[in-house]
Amino acid sequence: MADRPGRGVRQTARVCPLTPTDDRELLRARGSLKWTGTRGDIAAWVAESDLGTAPEVTHALHDAIDRGLTGYLPPHERAGAAQACADWQRRRFGWEVPADRVRLVPDVIAALRLTLERLTPPGSALVLPTPAYMPFVTMPAAWGREVIQVPMATDADGRATLDLDGIDAALAAGAGLVVLVNPHNPTGRVHTREELEALAAVVEARGATVFADEIHAPLVHAGHRHLPYASLSPVAAQHCVTATAASKGWNVPGLKCAQVVLTGDAHVAAWQDASEGVSVLGAVAAMAAYDHGEPWLDETVVYLGDNARRLAEVLATEAPAVGYRPPEGTYLAWLDLRDALPPAARDLEPGEVAHWLGRASGVTVVDGARCGEVGHGFVRLNLAMHRGLVEEAGRRIAAALRG
Ligand SMILES: Cc1ncc(COP(=O)(O)O)c(C=O)c1O
Repeated sequence: MADRPGRGVRQTARVCPLTPTDDRELLRARGSLKWTGTRGDIAAWVAESDLGTAPEVTHALHDAIDRGLTGYLPPHERAGAAQACADWQRRRFGWEVPADRVRLVPDVIAALRLTLERLTPPGSALVLPTPAYMPFVTMPAAWGREVIQVPMATDADGRATLDLDGIDAALAAGAGLVVLVNPHNPTGRVHTREELEALAAVVEARGATVFADEIHAPLVHAGHRHLPYASLSPVAAQHCVTATAASKGWNVPGLKCAQVVLTGDAHVAAWQDASEGVSVLGAVAAMAAYDHGEPWLDETVVYLGDNARRLAEVLATEAPAVGYRPPEGTYLAWLDLRDALPPAARDLEPGEVAHWLGRASGVTVVDGARCGEVGHGFVRLNLAMHRGLVEEAGRRIAAALRG
């Protein structure tokens, strides 16, 4: 690795990892959006983590600052980040993808906008399985694109699954692209090979494109396996654009360096460079994360998985009417409050449930209605915090629901 410019300097941890703390004053003093953007006692809303990042990432960033690497993105850093992403996909998921098919963009929303602009019929609608990551619901309208919300179905085991008939109907009506988020924000599903293959058949039959947002792929819990959609088959690879980033796995979303993987041969020519706005520190962090941050990630995923199960225990005892399956991937908990809300909160308007819960419990969460119409009555809770705060959040929510 040392022979490749941009990838040689980062190796071992010399910085202590940030240990989880339940000290709210300290958390606020650290200054994150998560803790300073709410007055609630427990900040469990925006998808940032209190657990810091890998020491290798911290070290690489310190090193870059010390070298004065705070200018525009140089070609060697761009190439290094693309190569590190390709290597990571191969090592972690067994997906062989050439580094010259990996392009950098500032973030996943930019990747979606560019994919729509460049690879779908002008003005065509997009299909969004809901509930969904909130900007996917709202942003496309600003780009002149209609979002067709297709509520996810629930299978016999109570898992959220794609409604293939609904997706097919939306494509038949002229939509050009399906947004697949896997692992899924907010439900935490990690789709199985069978589910993904069934989607690929529908999309291929309609000549449409899949935008596969795999930003949460590093965060998959024991017993589940992330399968990159484009690695399913040559057919899926040709109709798919994949977006990913180190930003969720290693908690560096502010550093602006997502990656787009172009597996469709026809897509390569249509995709001119779009790296304007990518930050050099984001590229440095992505390289360090992918190349050296796996041990820290693995420990963090275990901690997050235990948090998810602990919340399930607390809710099962103290608020059994709350619907919750620990996530298969991501650090997000999707709580169905529809049967658990006290009479005073039953008639709340969409968007009001999280406000009510925040007032009643002191826990700041994301309102499910922001994830699409089907999310009314649900809230999304961020589990990426000290275990004690997760337990306290569960107990406070339970007490609020009891009225
Ligand atoms: C599913 C999903 N996609 C995209 C993003 C945006 O991430 P970024 O801004 O790092 O590209 C998020 C952030 O939470 C997300 O959960």
